[in-house]
Amino acid sequence: MKFQTPTGMRDLLEGDLRYFQKIEKVCRDMADFYGFQRIETPILETTQLFEKGTGLTTDIVQRQMFSFRTRGGDQLTLKPEGTPGIVRAYIQQGMQSLPKPVKLWHLGPFFRYERPQAGRYRQFHSFGFESLGVTAPVVDAQIIQIFYNILKTLGFRNLIIELNSIGDHQCRPYFKKALVSYLRSRRASLCIDCKRRLRENPLRILDCKQEKCQRVARASPPVLDHLCKECHNHFKNVLEFLEELELPYSLNPYLVRGLDYYTKTVFEIFEDTKEGREQGTLVGGGRYDGLVKMLGGKETPACGGACGIERMVNLMKPKSAGVGKVAGAEIFLAQIGQLPKRKALKLLEELRKAKIKVATAFEKDSLSSQLRLADRLKVSYSLILGQKEVLDGKIIIREMATGRQKTVDVKRAIREMKKKVT
Ligand code: HAM
Repeated sequence: MKFQTPTGMRDLLEGDLRYFQKIEKVCRDMADFYGFQRIETPILETTQLFEKGTGLTTDIVQRQMFSFRTRGGDQLTLKPEGTPGIVRAYIQQGMQSLPKPVKLWHLGPFFRYERPQAGRYRQFHSFGFESLGVTAPVVDAQIIQIFYNILKTLGFRNLIIELNSIGDHQCRPYFKKALVSYLRSRRASLCIDCKRRLRENPLRILDCKQEKCQRVARASPPVLDHLCKECHNHFKNVLEFLEELELPYSLNPYLVRGLDYYTKTVFEIFEDTKEGREQGTLVGGGRYDGLVKMLGGKETPACGGACGIERMVNLMKPKSAGVGKVAGAEIFLAQIGQLPKRKALKLLEELRKAKIKVATAFEKDSLSSQLRLADRLKVSYSLILGQKEVLDGKIIIREMATGRQKTVDVKRAIREMKKKVT
């Protein structure tokens, strides 16, 4: 029997993880600069949290959750997205009484039962930035700026920020009414799912991927025409900030995003290249002024977004953007014979403490095969320990480029290597 990773899930090896680490480092630096604190919520949450938070009629909740009942009878779900868990923690951990805004960032794995394809996995990773407690449009602009900065720092070019406002509880009902009345007149042209959505959640029809539904959606009444004064002004202010920051945005009147909690601003960032479009949206986010209250907290405006790490890595790899090779060993420690092998094992620890990067091949006995390996690793020096050297308390230093060798005290060799390679 051959065991394999579950469908849509991958082993991450060094070649990927190096990018992950680089991305995490850039996120951390950005978070420190903008004053965001790290938070990690559990991978499992109660299923109801997503049903209520993400929305019962969203694709994520209806089709994509990995849910199960525990032995104790709790109904749990592997988190398909981060925001409901962050809001749960914000309420549960007493953050509602902290000075506003409370700024949090997170990075970790998420799980969605999707059809695997380019840039779409069943286990993926993303990082998110969330700012809770402030209504001001400058927050929306800063959240967008942070994601844009991170992508830029990691070498992304040709980025496009798509933006829309989907109104709030005051104006959205009017928009919904206009939308439904238009969609009813086109009902025959919609897919089966969208016919159902027309009853349950008509806004979702705007992000249906079926070509025929997109045709209908593209001729629908734009939400921007239905915004109330407050939402209109908020959006106008966000755009002014983006212009001031010289961020390349474009309005997409049909962008609604696939989650139910959004109010006012919604945005997505993607790379405007063939490869970028294949991978799909890198960053998605928006304002969610009603979510904290809906999940049992006080009325708290909030705004945030999340960025898919695998999609970033898939685009970074061909450009090999910003990630150097693993720092290789600087010297090679060779040994000939049983006693030297024992001593070399001990010496290796001294070299590690002296912070010298050393390669070894304790499984090899012949000196020539060890030196061949040292050559391949392109180290500058090899330290060679033979029977005679051990008995005399000495070691040979071989300069690899010239083949020149000298025998010195072990302690002196360590000092000399430290000077030469660190
Ligand atoms: P989302 O757009 O559902 O938003 O996901 C965020 C990002 O995760 C996407 O833009 C994409 O890069 C990545 N992603 C999503 N699904 C997959 C997948 N199956 N495979 C690989 N990558 C994927 C959210 O999750 C919201 N919580 C964002 C947010 C935070 N809004 C406000 N605050």
